[in-house]
Amino acid sequence: MALPWYVAGAAHPRRTLLLKGFAMSSKPIRDFLANPLDVPTAIRQRRSIKIFKPNPLPEGALQQLIELTVAAPSSWNLQDWRIVVVQSAEQKAALQAAAFNQPMVTQAPVTFVFAADALAGNADLTPIFEQALATGAWSQATVDYFRNVIPSFQTQLGPLRREYAVKDAMIAATHLALAAESLGFATCFMNGWIEERVKAVIGAADAPDLAIACLMPVGYAAEPRRDPGRLPLSFNVFTDRLGNPYGAA
Ligand SMILES: Cc1cc2nc3c(=O)[nH]c(=O)nc-3n(C[C@H](O)[C@H](O)[C@H](O)COP(=O)(O)O)c2cc1C
Repeated sequence: MALPWYVAGAAHPRRTLLLKGFAMSSKPIRDFLANPLDVPTAIRQRRSIKIFKPNPLPEGALQQLIELTVAAPSSWNLQDWRIVVVQSAEQKAALQAAAFNQPMVTQAPVTFVFAADALAGNADLTPIFEQALATGAWSQATVDYFRNVIPSFQTQLGPLRREYAVKDAMIAATHLALAAESLGFATCFMNGWIEERVKAVIGAADAPDLAIACLMPVGYAAEPRRDPGRLPLSFNVFTDRLGNPYGAA
């Protein structure tokens, strides 16, 4: 009579099957959603991926990625990014056409458009204030001060308002790139697109104060993560002032 696997000291039959599957894939199977990469590892491992598998994101992953994206900080906590999560085949095709036909836009199961509302500081900021009061992060005095100062600060920015909003949107996009990497996905920041065409695709053709910050496909990498390298720190990091290369004796 054959002994059960656990008495005979053999591997569990399912484990054998799992190991066979594992052997077929070049990488160990890791449940990234349950066991994400730590931040330094995700930062070091992240690469711009230009070829994606068509596989959809698993259940719940998109929601998690969106929540980690909007956890980003923003000037005055304005949260002035306007994020369009493009998933339909038609919209992705139109977006790809607006992005010099870069195929990753349609290959990936989802492509994010990070737009930025330069006039967000002029809107009614009550929801932002109420939330910060409710969490206890801001006092009533802070809210009263911000209510006065934010509109005037934003107005004196003049043409820089667009740039300030784009900064916030890019910080959010960076959160997405690193969150995605830590959860086992791949991304690519994208600047290669025609702004007016992207705006037309997302329904912002008549919104002159809405800027496009970047596009970002998110999915599973279908190519290796190849590191193009970084210059020595002495090239672009300085101590105290430009001209003192960091690390120089
Ligand atoms: C703001 C930004 C825009 C980019 N736009 C594009 C793009 O439109 N198309 C593309 O193939 N790569 C694009 N890239 C990817 C860069 O080429 C890539 O980040 C760079 O070569 C460094 O490689 P790494 O991201 O793997 O470290 C962009 C990267 C950044 C940060």
